[in-house]
Amino acid sequence: MAWIVKNSATAQVELRDEPYLDDELKAELEAQVLPRYPTRQAATLPVLHAIQHKHHWIAHQALMEAAAFLEVSDSEMLDTATFYEEFWLEPKGRYLIMLCRSISCELCGQRPLLDRIREKLGIEPGETTVDGRFTLMEAECLGSCGTAPCALVNETLHESLTSENFERILDGLE
Ligand code: FES
Repeated sequence: MAWIVKNSATAQVELRDEPYLDDELKAELEAQVLPRYPTRQAATLPVLHAIQHKHHWIAHQALMEAAAFLEVSDSEMLDTATFYEEFWLEPKGRYLIMLCRSISCELCGQRPLLDRIREKLGIEPGETTVDGRFTLMEAECLGSCGTAPCALVNETLHESLTSENFERILDGLE
């Protein structure tokens, strides 16, 4: 495996005036999350989840705010956030499509379905449409092999998909 070295020390961080970790979220975390952990640092993952839940992704500024809140260094926060694939460090679309690519779904037509979605949305897996509506990702088994092929759209599981019914699902989203 090749290591990719990035010069984070001199990276320019885009800052906005309004904090991501605002007073309301801090108060909620202080009251409901921090008491469950022996140290502030131990609450790193739930704090990152809370930020992502609120903003749908975690901006670099939000990582710095979380580091200050938990009294750890920015680099420790960045290390943690970049370790887990679940954290989105780039903005994602309003609708996140996670199309299963594991064996049952693959055998039941995932590939033509993926091709149809790529064609309809004009994006490849890992990309977001220009209007910011859809992000397309491939996922491993979603635990619904009996109704393959399937996909998650945000938190809703869609099963027994065909190009036609999935297109209707996407068209029906606001
Ligand atoms: S292989 Fe797709 S849900 Fe299991």
